[in-house]
Amino acid sequence: MAEAPYKDASLPIEARVSDLLSRMTIQEKIGQMAQIDRSVASPEVIRDLGIGSVLNGGESAPAPGATPTMWADMIDGFQEVAMSTRLGIPIFYGTDAVHGHNNIVGATIFPHNIGLGAARDEDLMVRIGRATALEILATGVPFPFSPCIAVSRDPRWGRCYESYSEDTETVRSMAKIILGLQGFPPTDHTSGYPFVAEGGRYVMGCAKHYTGDGGTEEGVDEHNTVASYEDLYRIHMLPYIDAMAMGVSSVMVSFSSWNGVKMHAHRFLLTEILKQEMSFQGMLITDWEGVDRITDPPGLNYTDCLKAVINAGMDMIMIPFKYERFFTAMNYLISSDQILISRIDDAVTRILRVKFISGLFERPMADRSLFDMFGHKKHKELAREAVRKSLVLLKNGKGDEKMLPLNKNAPKILVAGSHAHNIGYQCGGWTITWQGSSGNTTEGTTILEGIKKAVSKQTQVVFEESPDEKFLRENSDFSYAIVVVGELPYAEFLGDSKELRLAVDGEETIKTVCSKVKCLVIIVSGRPVVIEPYVDMMEALVAAWLPGSEAGNGIAEVIFGDFDFHGKLSRTWFRRVDQLPMNFGDPHYDPLYPFGFGLQMNISSL
Ligand code: GLC
Repeated sequence: MAEAPYKDASLPIEARVSDLLSRMTIQEKIGQMAQIDRSVASPEVIRDLGIGSVLNGGESAPAPGATPTMWADMIDGFQEVAMSTRLGIPIFYGTDAVHGHNNIVGATIFPHNIGLGAARDEDLMVRIGRATALEILATGVPFPFSPCIAVSRDPRWGRCYESYSEDTETVRSMAKIILGLQGFPPTDHTSGYPFVAEGGRYVMGCAKHYTGDGGTEEGVDEHNTVASYEDLYRIHMLPYIDAMAMGVSSVMVSFSSWNGVKMHAHRFLLTEILKQEMSFQGMLITDWEGVDRITDPPGLNYTDCLKAVINAGMDMIMIPFKYERFFTAMNYLISSDQILISRIDDAVTRILRVKFISGLFERPMADRSLFDMFGHKKHKELAREAVRKSLVLLKNGKGDEKMLPLNKNAPKILVAGSHAHNIGYQCGGWTITWQGSSGNTTEGTTILEGIKKAVSKQTQVVFEESPDEKFLRENSDFSYAIVVVGELPYAEFLGDSKELRLAVDGEETIKTVCSKVKCLVIIVSGRPVVIEPYVDMMEALVAAWLPGSEAGNGIAEVIFGDFDFHGKLSRTWFRRVDQLPMNFGDPHYDPLYPFGFGLQMNISSL
């Protein structure tokens, strides 16, 4: 018997989509709209409900010790079940690969977006996207929940570091990472239509979180963005125009609200604007439990909320656990004509479209020939380059005497601070675990290790995390000190802060050390923090953001002068938190360091 047209890869995508759609029952269509967590994705559930996608959230990734092979086996296991169903529609597995494949020990962990925004290097972004695609495909993942193209307008937001910049044009520029993730569309590509290059070396991008996620009042996560439509469009929506021009496969909708109306249920912005006016032909996906979080407390009136979300234009529902409730509600809403079949068909058409375009039907299983791409040396070198380019030199010496580049041959130097020797701290949130953590959480080089490798064999490097007055009295012959302090890891609403202070004993360490020894202070943080009271004590100051696994070498080769500084602030560095929100272009703009600021050492080699 002739093969069904949808299985024929030589046919046009839209012909395959419409053929498959025409064969599907309503139950199979509802199943395709369901994304469930891996912890409830039993073979029976995937097969009997015809599940469209499986994911892990920040807190439900496989254990930190899981290897790429274990990930590939897990995902292939889900896929084998999906391919055994009547129509054999493959699932896609989604995970947050937001600065490399940050779920797995050994993956290359790139600087978080705030640092990449400071680098302002579009070519670098494409290469990072490319490397990330290869590392996640090596483990069977075709769908990263990235890039985040939020325009964060207030550093009190716990997701400030996931935003490239406060400046829309900088975010638009950095969104080029999509070209690395998905490949470059042909010159005749139609904006809004999904694109993934052939060959199994690219993934489906997911631009998030549409829209205004970075504009909420006081930076409160998942809260309310008050703005005219003109400002919402000008500040927060423009990056989605670029994402669609590049053929982004999907868009994740924000938890937040615009002028009091939840984005997840915003028919005007999801359907009338994004799908109709901007002709987005890819897939709209909710955020985690996005339907439940329409209400406070979450989960009230679930059926009404689901009706609002689907009729607003949502295509895939990140349920992720209570799938029975989802199917029961969907069947009721459809059978009572509260959700029209035409809306279901639009959603399933988009889901199938991105699945066909990504090549999932032809290559449903993990490509294990890519295993050697995972944590590849070339990717580590790329991350090191990204670290170098993300660093911003805010102060270099007092008066004419410059402190940087540091003397590699100094007889004895002090390295101090909570963040000098802590991979978990330098990677930040979304690293191995959702919130990130302290210690040797993954492979990489700490800042202390990088310093030790960079200095001469004659140089004595003394590491004292929290030096006190007594220690400094007994060790008074340091040529200089490098003090590395910052923020503890955090993610999402748990990172919301009104104080923006250095964590642990960062302020104390600066005061104790820099009052006695000529010091360079390196700030490891997801955003600008309170430092004005201490700047005069510092001889030099560098913002390193959340530099990732390759921080050690990347930072050392700049502060010791192998490379000059390149980074420019991607967001305003305030004087005091009572100035916030304060962004470049605002009236009464009075920053400690303005957007775009960054010094150089003016050494010959760069
Ligand atoms: C989270 C985040 C989103 C992430 C999703 C899946 O709540 O808002 O950025 O992709 O859930 O982990």
